[in-house]
Amino acid sequence: MIKEGFHLEIEAAKESQLDLLVSQFSPGNPMFQYNRYNVQKNGDGLYLIAWINRIPIGHFLLRWSGPQDAPVTNNIDINQNAFLEAGLTIDEYRRMGVATAIILEGERLSKEKGCTHIGLEVGVENPEAKRLYERLGYKDWGYGEFEISWEYIDHNGNKGIDSEIVIFMQKSL
Ligand SMILES: CC(C)(COP(=O)(O)OP(=O)(O)OC[C@H]1O[C@@H](n2cnc3c(N)ncnc32)[C@H](O)[C@@H]1OP(=O)(O)O)[C@@H](O)C(=O)NCCC(=O)NCCS
Repeated sequence: MIKEGFHLEIEAAKESQLDLLVSQFSPGNPMFQYNRYNVQKNGDGLYLIAWINRIPIGHFLLRWSGPQDAPVTNNIDINQNAFLEAGLTIDEYRRMGVATAIILEGERLSKEKGCTHIGLEVGVENPEAKRLYERLGYKDWGYGEFEISWEYIDHNGNKGIDSEIVIFMQKSL
């Protein structure tokens, strides 16, 4: 549980908060926070932030549809499938139910939006995150492992590509 006197709130990010989000979650590398906020600005989802006493401590990006990765889109219709990505809770606040609270709020908002399912991708070398999602009712839909990759810009401004082997998990809403 979150300590007594500390109030956990889950809210969509605001443009005025972006500098604070950069300094808390990706100092020196603003791209991640701005790209996620732009998904929200374009109407494609919400960048959900967990706050304790007005300090941002965790996040997930909720998309109204996704993922776009072929191993998934070849097998399921993602039109009414909400998609959670970019989940993180800062170290000091882990194992207190912060990610659980963001995910449950994401599920509520997705249902309200008319989504019938919600899914996520989890790294095969991330058994702790997988256990959390299983506890919340997400199931491996059995399409096997596949690789996802994404672009980033490092602290020196150099572009790079990172990748991870993941599975897809899904839950009915
Ligand atoms: C994965 C991650 C987002 C989970 O965040 P979190 O806020 O610690 O998650 P929660 O607290 O909701 O749940 C984590 C565990 O703590 C447990 N927990 C929740 N409240 C608790 C409490 N009050 N006391 C003890 N344990 C608690 C949950 O039951 C869960 O246990 P389980 O994994 O055995 O089911 C976090 O570990 C993280 O940021 N990891 C690095 C980035 C990452 O891997 N992201 C996921 C990418 S798919």
